[in-house]
Amino acid sequence: MQQHDLSKAVEISNGIHWVGTGTKTFLSRNAYLLCYHGQEKLNSMLIDPGPTVDLDILIHKVSEVLGSITKVNAVFLNHQDPDVVGNAPYMARSNPNTLMLATEDTWRLVSLSGLDSTKFRAVERFKNMRIVMPTGHKIQFVPTPFCHFRGACMLYDIESRILFSGDFMGGIAATQLFATRANWSGIKAFHQLYMPSNEAIRLAVRRIRDLQPTPIMIAPQHGSIIQEEDIPYFLDQMENLKVGLDIITTFDKIMPEMIAGLNEIIATVGKTIGEENVTNTMKMFHADGSYPAIFALSRDGKITEIKGDPMESIESLIRMFFRNCSENQKSILKSIILKILILRNLPTFDTLLTEQYPPEVELFEDTSASDTSIPALASY
Ligand SMILES: [Fe+2]
Ligand SMILES: [Fe+2]
Repeated sequence: MQQHDLSKAVEISNGIHWVGTGTKTFLSRNAYLLCYHGQEKLNSMLIDPGPTVDLDILIHKVSEVLGSITKVNAVFLNHQDPDVVGNAPYMARSNPNTLMLATEDTWRLVSLSGLDSTKFRAVERFKNMRIVMPTGHKIQFVPTPFCHFRGACMLYDIESRILFSGDFMGGIAATQLFATRANWSGIKAFHQLYMPSNEAIRLAVRRIRDLQPTPIMIAPQHGSIIQEEDIPYFLDQMENLKVGLDIITTFDKIMPEMIAGLNEIIATVGKTIGEENVTNTMKMFHADGSYPAIFALSRDGKITEIKGDPMESIESLIRMFFRNCSENQKSILKSIILKILILRNLPTFDTLLTEQYPPEVELFEDTSASDTSIPALASY
């Protein structure tokens, strides 16, 4: 796979540049600069300018392409989160003619940072939610309600067939600009935590499938860009994903028991592989601060909350413990953890089950003479 120099702007399609932060943080931010070349005109639109901590990077990368960030004509905001709109006030100040595009629901909150509403254009006010740039280029706005904000809206660039999808289809722990199917686990984890329900996801998936012409890239605000050949795969995966409330309501009743079981497992594992080993393993579940840790811990190191899918979180913790175990320790721990889960009536995991069971024992009929020395058996 081609490696890109992410310290610079990357042209992902003709006139369309990635101007994001790269892959150094767990939750990387992607901003995109769309340059529309007309006969004598150049119009540019910046999508999701990012948080204030990314401003220097943004200035550098946009200036590489346009000469100056003041030349940006329009800014599109998918929704109002600080990781999306933090730099919007700077953009407005650096060029007071910059138009701001978003849904009205998004703008109501973004405008609280003192932005001039005369420069705001509500995307739902345009006929069919479509606009034509002065250069003739067409853009379609595609709302994704409750993915994850009620006013969230994607932007589809019809000529390049790139869909700028905001948080939807975004992922954590991306290591390269373009996604492979291995990115699914990071996308899944991000959606399980940030998206409210599978119902909201299904609507967004349907809207992407309905786009004409079909997109050849999905460019989210976090993680890697999904290319044409993988789009059906990721949409299929996404369509069936349980997230947010789906997970909470499914596990609501057994969650206290799961947390208690998990704390018992951690205490038991400590006795076998040592407390220090356990502490170091738990540290690996803390993200870099740009993303929530999977487990919330009390001061004395006890788990108080499981975020994301609890089954997957527990299984990945068990797998991490096993990494530091000898084969003998692993086999003892498997049996002990299995016992804890069974006694607490909690589901078990494939990781705990032995892959190679000894074959079923064969029992033979006793064909020897019947003058057995244990006649008492007959009376049972
Ligand atoms: Fe967000
Ligand atoms: Fe975001």
